[in-house]
Amino acid sequence: MKEALTVHSHPPPGADAVEPTADFTIDQNYPSYTAAEHAIWRALFDRQERLLRNRACDAFLDGLARLGVAADGIPDFRRLNPILSQATGWTIVAVPGLVPDAVFFEHLAHRRFPSTCFIRRADQLDYLEEPDIFHDVYGHVPMLIDPVFADYMQAYGEGGLKALRLGNLERLARLYWYTVEFGLIRGPSGLRIYGSGILSSKGESIYSLESEAPNRIAFDLLRIMRTEYRIDDFQECYFVIDGFDQLFDATRPDFAPYYEALRPQPDIPPGVVLASDVRVSRTRKKGRARGTAQV
Ligand code: PHE
Ligand code: FE
Repeated sequence: MKEALTVHSHPPPGADAVEPTADFTIDQNYPSYTAAEHAIWRALFDRQERLLRNRACDAFLDGLARLGVAADGIPDFRRLNPILSQATGWTIVAVPGLVPDAVFFEHLAHRRFPSTCFIRRADQLDYLEEPDIFHDVYGHVPMLIDPVFADYMQAYGEGGLKALRLGNLERLARLYWYTVEFGLIRGPSGLRIYGSGILSSKGESIYSLESEAPNRIAFDLLRIMRTEYRIDDFQECYFVIDGFDQLFDATRPDFAPYYEALRPQPDIPPGVVLASDVRVSRTRKKGRARGTAQV
């Protein structure tokens, strides 16, 4: 089974049973987790632990260790938050499921990461359509310990509010998808994963680095904003950064002129490679191969 995690989807079953506040936050209600739910966390954690040791980027592995996110069971936000806020000023807030875009961006812009509380069922270990607490806390939260990535996420929240005002949410959402959710990073030890949608998926953490099927293309902001993505299968295309500074610097300028420049440009299907793309090789040696036009 393939794993897919969507950014824009419907709330999980039962989410409407909780009464959210105006900012959609709820209480994690930590004591309500059952032994069976903690066991699901353990199973998910254990298998990613083995897989990600030499596949995830250092920032993620350091973040996990510093937060003490471990196999024991579902983490308590009240334990993680002092460590996280001490490190980079971020806090986790509990939400019942996906929240409206403006609410999501408001939280990020204030360094609050909205996390779901429920955990997938035992028959959903490999496949889940919407984010659950394993995706949100195991996949996203450790990255917020990295100071540059932490700043990027806040800037993204501010950029989201602006994109909403300018009617360019679709273009900006692609940036989130191809970086925060499905980004790869290239360093001294080769290609590594920093995207949370990959980090929380057993199948895609292998596929994204090792399969010959997907295209891996050097990060290019405007190219990404034109690239469609699929939410129901492994990605056909990954974008590779050289470091979080590169990502943060490239996204620092005002996007309003970019949105204008992109307006007449056609979207690019996810499986297509352009002549202007710089392809990144899957092997551990460094170096760039020029792309070939397939359109
Ligand atoms: N600089 C962007 C803008 O003006 C904001 C942004 C930062 C968006 C980082 C995404 C990521 O819209
Ligand atoms: Fe996510």
